[in-house]
Amino acid sequence: MTRPKALITGASTGIGKVYAQRLAKRGYDLVLVARDKTRLAALAEQLHQDGAVSEVLAADLTQSHDVARIEKKLESDASISFFLNNAGIATMERHLDTSLGTIENIIALNITAATRLALAAGRAFVAAKRGTIVNMCSITSVNPERFNGVYGGSKAYLLALSQALTKDLNDNGVTIQAVLPGATRTEIWERAGADVDKLPPERVMEVDEMVDAALKGLDMGERITIPSLPDAQDLADAEAARLKMSPNLSHKHAAARYR
Ligand SMILES: NC(=O)c1ccc[n+]([C@@H]2O[C@H](COP(=O)([O-])OP(=O)(O)OC[C@H]3O[C@@H](n4cnc5c(N)ncnc54)[C@H](OP(=O)(O)O)[C@@H]3O)[C@@H](O)[C@H]2O)c1
Repeated sequence: MTRPKALITGASTGIGKVYAQRLAKRGYDLVLVARDKTRLAALAEQLHQDGAVSEVLAADLTQSHDVARIEKKLESDASISFFLNNAGIATMERHLDTSLGTIENIIALNITAATRLALAAGRAFVAAKRGTIVNMCSITSVNPERFNGVYGGSKAYLLALSQALTKDLNDNGVTIQAVLPGATRTEIWERAGADVDKLPPERVMEVDEMVDAALKGLDMGERITIPSLPDAQDLADAEAARLKMSPNLSHKHAAARYR
């Protein structure tokens, strides 16, 4: 039997690397995407010990032509049935002082590339009437006050995109999950100019635990998974409150209080 294939962006380290290890154990072959080819090749070697065959695609997803190569891979390789939309960067810069370079990189990677690849995977999976897309959002998707606003905005965008796509994908046999991790011990902190060890330790999750929880949420059929949230009802209530407004958000006349 041929093994299913998963394509992971940001597979060279952190959350993406742990997903690659877990998915290999679940019987997937892998397509590993990130900039650091040496790290991807070392991971591919390691995954081989679990019987997984990996293809390494070095790509800088802030570059349009590199995104196009990965879009093409998602749309042309019919054995890919799982897409982890994970590559992302953050910043510790203060809201109003966020530099132009940081703004452009966050939007290019966390928004433009993530959108193009989610839609490419969506088209391929809908045509095949099967598949799973996991969008790596963040608790800042729903709590932007906690972090740099450009980063939080990019993650709120990805959650909104996931929510918008859910019905169309589900109606066509495709699963989509938005994962909203809290602080997770990976290199992203150092890359953003922060020391994760300075955060209160009770607020920082180990990356293996985060990924295992997210995969459990996927297995449980969750469309939004917040690994840290103790009471799932809190999320259900927030979603219900949001959707309760839906029939009243567009009317011919302004609400009485504005007249
Ligand atoms: N860790 C947390 O606390 C946390 C919390 C909430 C959400 N998240 C989200 O989780 C995702 C993964 O983050 P992480 O914590 O695992 O971070 P990480 O350890 O820094 O890993 C980021 C991954 O993205 C890749 N990447 C970065 N820039 C890239 C580019 N221009 N083109 C292609 N790949 C690129 C990196 O590989 P190369 O450098 O080799 O390209 C790496 O594989 C991100 O979307 C992040 O926003 C993380």
